[in-house]
Amino acid sequence: MTARLAILASGRGSNLQAILDAITAGTLDAQVIGVFSDRPEAQALQRVPEALRWARTPKTCGGRDAFDAALGDAVAASAPDWIVCAGYMRILSPGFVQRFAGRLLNIHPSLLPRHKGLHTHQRALEAGDAEHGASVHFVTAELDGGPVIAQARVPVLPGDDADALAARVLAVEHPLLLQVLRLAAAGRLAERDGRVYIDAQPVFTPRPLESAPA
Ligand code: GAR
Repeated sequence: MTARLAILASGRGSNLQAILDAITAGTLDAQVIGVFSDRPEAQALQRVPEALRWARTPKTCGGRDAFDAALGDAVAASAPDWIVCAGYMRILSPGFVQRFAGRLLNIHPSLLPRHKGLHTHQRALEAGDAEHGASVHFVTAELDGGPVIAQARVPVLPGDDADALAARVLAVEHPLLLQVLRLAAAGRLAERDGRVYIDAQPVFTPRPLESAPA
């Protein structure tokens, strides 16, 4: 059965576009059933037909809690199999996380548990890291702290600034997210008691990025 994906996005939406392109190309058996944003001006929203867009701000909803409740109701009403944070820049409330536990995924631009939170590329440079990358993980109440499903690594090169490093990471984010979504869409991915399972086998170390299918 074609998996129903709800996408949460705050900005550019290049990860969303990678999902849409893979669906069109027939390499991801899924359907984007809604794009949900905390920023009505987000470019991500423009990537889907108007009927699939939902955008509110905490201000227009009357506060943080009301916003998260409205977001949760809208997401639930779309009946998703999976909820994917793809550049969603707000912290989700524990209630929201609980409501969608086990089917809430996030892509984060670092090799978690390194560099949780913001400005990950600059922080990797300042830490003198030789490697940096991206992680896809299940969302739990702890910020960027849920179990990691897969990671893609890139080298940090001499002369890199945060923008150069961000671009190198973004190039691996898209295939990494698709790799995980293919597992999710095929019913092969699960989370139980804080552990990732693929094909009902526990995953002890994050899966590496697979090379592109021929
Ligand atoms: C991506 O690099 C994603 O990993 C990051 O925001 C960017 C969104 O790009 N997410 C976070 O930092 C979440 N804490 P996109 O809008 O082009 O997909």
